[in-house]
Amino acid sequence: MLKSLRAVVRFKKFEPDPVKRRLSKVANIEDLRHLARRRLPSGVFDYIDGAAEDERTYSRNEAGFAKIGFAPRVLRGNAEIDTSTTLMGKHLPVPLVLAPTGFTRIAHSQGELAVARSAARAGLPYALSTLGTRSIEEVAEAGDGDKWFQVYVWKDRGLVDEMLDRAATAGYSTAVVTVDTATFGRRERDVRRGFTLPPRIGLGTIIDGIRRPGWSLDFIKAEPIMFANVTGESVGDGSDPVSLAEYVADQMDPGLSWEDIDHFREQWPGKMTIKGIQTVADAKIAVDHGVDAVILSNHGGRQLDDAPAPIDLLPSVADALGGHTDIILDGGIRRGSDVVKAVSLGAKACMFGRAYLYGLGAAGEQGVDFVLEHLVEGVERTLSLIGCRSLDALGPEYLVDYQ
Ligand code: GLV
Repeated sequence: MLKSLRAVVRFKKFEPDPVKRRLSKVANIEDLRHLARRRLPSGVFDYIDGAAEDERTYSRNEAGFAKIGFAPRVLRGNAEIDTSTTLMGKHLPVPLVLAPTGFTRIAHSQGELAVARSAARAGLPYALSTLGTRSIEEVAEAGDGDKWFQVYVWKDRGLVDEMLDRAATAGYSTAVVTVDTATFGRRERDVRRGFTLPPRIGLGTIIDGIRRPGWSLDFIKAEPIMFANVTGESVGDGSDPVSLAEYVADQMDPGLSWEDIDHFREQWPGKMTIKGIQTVADAKIAVDHGVDAVILSNHGGRQLDDAPAPIDLLPSVADALGGHTDIILDGGIRRGSDVVKAVSLGAKACMFGRAYLYGLGAAGEQGVDFVLEHLVEGVERTLSLIGCRSLDALGPEYLVDYQ
């Protein structure tokens, strides 16, 4: 009996690196989400994970993908799979872009720098948020990957022009103008907690912090986090805790219009995209205003609840634009198969924010690497399993409707 037991018993080798040990039990992005929930203070997790009002749009962003199935072809002789594509004329190894996320250092002290490094290693573009906690210049120095800059339009337009000039000087290739934030979405998890950025330290936060020692130690040891792109400016740089809803109401311009887009188009020397397109009509107007790509996005369900899920909107926008302007889908990406579905329906690439924030919160830079590898492998595996050799060959014939 001992002999037969000895033949089958294998103890796993002990992994001395605690982060690698943690990641060894993770199989997908949902696992990372659970891990992030355990490691981050609840207010921080809810700020990242939460969405507007009843969070129906947030749910639909993901559920939209589950309604789409595959029609796999077999015996196609596809020994090699090509996951590469071109986006706005540039080669991409896989159709993925890391979306801008505000206040990234709240998930981990390495914040935007870790995300930029990880994206550069994977050969993917990373979009820094205006509300980033590392500056345009710091992120530019973090690696030689393709950098995009996301623009929130401040009432102080001089400040916006100045940031765009800085981004152009620092070598950012693409501007991403976010247009779904005329006013701030009502994120009720944050409302309930009175959540501020950075978190206001009260008794609740202290108790929460004690229960999450890994995050707390990292937070205390790191330099204070602020809106690094506007440090010292009159608009408030987050050095005092602010409710993001109040900050946006005070500082962002609800009067933003297509004329402003023309102004940015003239001023910005690189590629220009608009993030937050939610109808066919606006996608067409965006094209008339000379954008290089439209980003179908509802801000991860964080702005208007019951706005359409980008994956549901995609076929009609793709039909209306007829392949002349690139479409990027943002929202609900959790697997490589989601990316394949979006490309089959006419997207050139997909953006994702929460997914890498879960990785960052769960395991720092290695967690972001995990997310990127997971998505890249998922794209490749899905193409192989549906019998499609390359992204260019994808089309709706590979999909079935499970409505
Ligand atoms: C910032 O962009 C946020 O959605 O919280």
